[in-house]
Amino acid sequence: MSWLTDALKSSLGRKLIMAITGLFLILFLMGHVLGNLLLFKPDGGQAFNEYARFMTTTPVIQVLSYVTYLSIIIHAIYSILITRKNKEARPIGYAVNKGGENSTWSSRNMGILGTIVLIFLVIHLKSFWYEMRFGILPTVIYPGVGEFKDLYSIVAAAFTQWWYVLLYLVAMFGLGYHLAHGFESAFQTLGLNHKKYTPLIKKIGFGFAIIVPLLFASMPVVMFIQSLA
Ligand code: HEM
Repeated sequence: MSWLTDALKSSLGRKLIMAITGLFLILFLMGHVLGNLLLFKPDGGQAFNEYARFMTTTPVIQVLSYVTYLSIIIHAIYSILITRKNKEARPIGYAVNKGGENSTWSSRNMGILGTIVLIFLVIHLKSFWYEMRFGILPTVIYPGVGEFKDLYSIVAAAFTQWWYVLLYLVAMFGLGYHLAHGFESAFQTLGLNHKKYTPLIKKIGFGFAIIVPLLFASMPVVMFIQSLA
């Protein structure tokens, strides 16, 4: 098994782990943003509450949830390990490239962008994930369907607070920049370099990094405006 620990400790092994967990988290984000669009269904939250129950009680999804938690933890730990290794290798930084001609702003700030997303996640999970699983939620009865935990009312209440909405907007900026570099970088690490497809992958990554955070950001903004009416 020492080949495995050696591989996991190697620079390429660490980057591969970052890439694989990152790509899995990208898939998670796709599913999460699509599911959360149910918040916009004008049915008082019924579809969203039914979806939330489905997501928290279906065994296959529960397994996927554990893979998601593990991916977040591993992705964060390995980012620290890689940053530390890079600093050891080059304690005073590059002499050239001060203005960043050879790299983008997001690629040079992945650590800070990832930290913004991580801080957001801790607050986000406490507000919704923790409440759904361990909190005492109000329930709502949908005739002919049954009694449901009313997670929708918790989300709607959270998004009546301007500072909470602002927190989400800042975090979605961070997420967008983090994804802009992460998507492309993951494909590069996996060695998926191709004359024809790499430019296409870059475009898809760029589009994803804009559209997904924008959709996420629209949720607190729209619900905040609705709460004013
Ligand atoms: C801004 C709009 C968002 C809304 C309205 C939203 C809503 C929710 C809700 C209601 C839950 C609890 C459902 C459950 O218990 O499974 C949840 C869980 C979660 N959210 Fe979000 N979310 C948003 C954005 C994000 C973003 C941007 C990320 C990641 C960067 C994220 C990561 C997660 C994770 C990891 C979970 C736990 C999922 C699981 O248990 O499988 N969310 N979210």
